[in-house]
Amino acid sequence: MAIERTFSIIKPDAVERGLIAEILKMITDSGLKIKGMKMMRMDRAKAEGFYAVHKERPFFGELVDYMISGPVVVSCLEGENAIENYRKLMGATNPAQAEEGTIRAAYGMSIQNNACHGSDGPDTARTEVAYFFNDDELVG
Ligand code: CMP
Repeated sequence: MAIERTFSIIKPDAVERGLIAEILKMITDSGLKIKGMKMMRMDRAKAEGFYAVHKERPFFGELVDYMISGPVVVSCLEGENAIENYRKLMGATNPAQAEEGTIRAAYGMSIQNNACHGSDGPDTARTEVAYFFNDDELVG
């Protein structure tokens, strides 16, 4: 199986509740390697650009407000089948529907405040990693 890279965000609600270490432990225990990582606070333009695909959705405004409400931890993860494996580890977007043992089942609060983000496919993964990281920041 191919080695892939994917992009992850530990979202503001999870950072605020002190869950960075717990979520990173679930990520690394699953076999994914951290290639690059940083804590940052997005400004409105950065968050709107990141979620541009959702700009016509009714939740877009609230989603952007939430994503800029506090710091996030962004990372580039690498491993076999990393994109699908990380999506499985996160669980369903709505934490109420996420399977036991997933990050969102453990730590998600609501469909919006759902603790983490992961890329949904190879093209998105490439775009999202490049949106937050320069090549020389992927050092892991
Ligand atoms: P994420 O995987 O980052 O992708 C889009 C985000 O929009 C999603 O996680 C949620 O945080 C947020 N969101 C808010 N409401 C909805 C909704 N009704 N359906 C899907 N995503 C939603």
